Amino acid sequence: MKILVTGGAGYIGSHTCVELLDEGYEVVIVDNLYNASKKVIRRIPQITGKNVGFYEADIRDYSQMSHIMNKEQPDAVIHFAGLKAVGESVEKPLAYYENNISGTLTLCKAMQESGCKNIIFSSSATVYGNPAVVPITEQCPKGACTNPYGWTKHMLEQILTDIQKADPDWNVILLRYFNPIGAHKSGLIGEDPKGIPNNLLPYVTQVAIGKHPYVRVFGNDYETPDGTGVRDYIHVVDLAKGHVKAIDKIKEHPGIKIYNLGTGKGYSVLEVIGAFSKACGKEIPYRIMERRAGDIAICYSDATLAKKELGWEAQFDLLDMCRDSWRWQSTNPDGYGEE
Ligand code: NAD
Ligand code: UD1
Repeated sequence: MKILVTGGAGYIGSHTCVELLDEGYEVVIVDNLYNASKKVIRRIPQITGKNVGFYEADIRDYSQMSHIMNKEQPDAVIHFAGLKAVGESVEKPLAYYENNISGTLTLCKAMQESGCKNIIFSSSATVYGNPAVVPITEQCPKGACTNPYGWTKHMLEQILTDIQKADPDWNVILLRYFNPIGAHKSGLIGEDPKGIPNNLLPYVTQVAIGKHPYVRVFGNDYETPDGTGVRDYIHVVDLAKGHVKAIDKIKEHPGIKIYNLGTGKGYSVLEVIGAFSKACGKEIPYRIMERRAGDIAICYSDATLAKKELGWEAQFDLLDMCRDSWRWQSTNPDGYGEE
């Protein structure tokens, strides 16, 4: 069975390609390398001992996508390609709507015309907005997003739902990720943010290697046990395995399905800093700062539906995630570096 992976050279995509190859799938990546390194394409076979197909192409380019879909004839598409920086999306909404929405529409058109109607889409817990209750089930109403990035996920979920409704030959699985961190145990692939990271874990790892003096903890006056924000951190390899299970599901012709991919557990910012200190063997310094605009206090999943229907459950704990992040960061201090 052949899987086409858009954005497969990126952080979550590359880990998913490894898991798919390990499970015996044939994998073809489409990535424009906007936020990825070509080195990933060499490291995936290094980890798995298997070849991966690669097209340096933009999903917004219909003629290229149509050519690739017709030539490769994949059985399903896992669609990661997109822009994902929340702050940047507020400054450049047009770029985000254009890349994420137009890109997905072009991809779906090329899929439809080539006869491939199976898609797994990277959505986010951000679609829940500020949740009324935790843990968050898939039944929780979607909330108002605070930024254009979030709205692209919100809108694309609706667009894909409508496409499936109009043509029941389509199978659409929307996966809502919580907070992916960690890296492959080989230390060969991991997250490589450009510039100063916005997300907590990449910032903590950069403090650990001395790129920043301390972690800025955004607020300690939330209604949480230690006052700092609580999130559902999930190991990227667990997340990747969730996609393999979603491929198994799509073979059953399920129509439209939505699953949370999280661990079901919440950890505070201070707990993450504590676990990372343990993993890297040194105290990570931090300072309490003002709250970050747009942040919510608590967000963690109810992950029981994915367990029941996909037979998937996260295996790794917070210390595993921190150890693997540290291995990646300490052996690749500049990420993938220059070509
Ligand atoms: P990433 O930036 O590492 O990967 C995205 C990949 O898509 C990159 O390799 C980039 O070069 C490629 N890409 C972007 N626009 C493209 C285009 N027009 N054509 C072809 N390739 C293009 O991000 P990631 O963290 O691996 O996230 C993957 C997906 O999961 C994204 O859709 C993201 O929004 C979603 N997601 C991520 C998180 C997270 O915390 N990382 C959480 C929830 C959802
Ligand atoms: C962010 C995005 C969300 C996206 C998710 C996963 C925002 C507002 N939301 O969510 O859309 O789906 O990442 O990629 O950016 N923190 C610090 N110091 C830091 C960084 C973060 O204290 O330097 C705190 C935050 O206040 C929060 C927690 O750490 O409590 C996690 O933050 P982050 O990693 O940015 O993820 P989210 O806010 O959950």
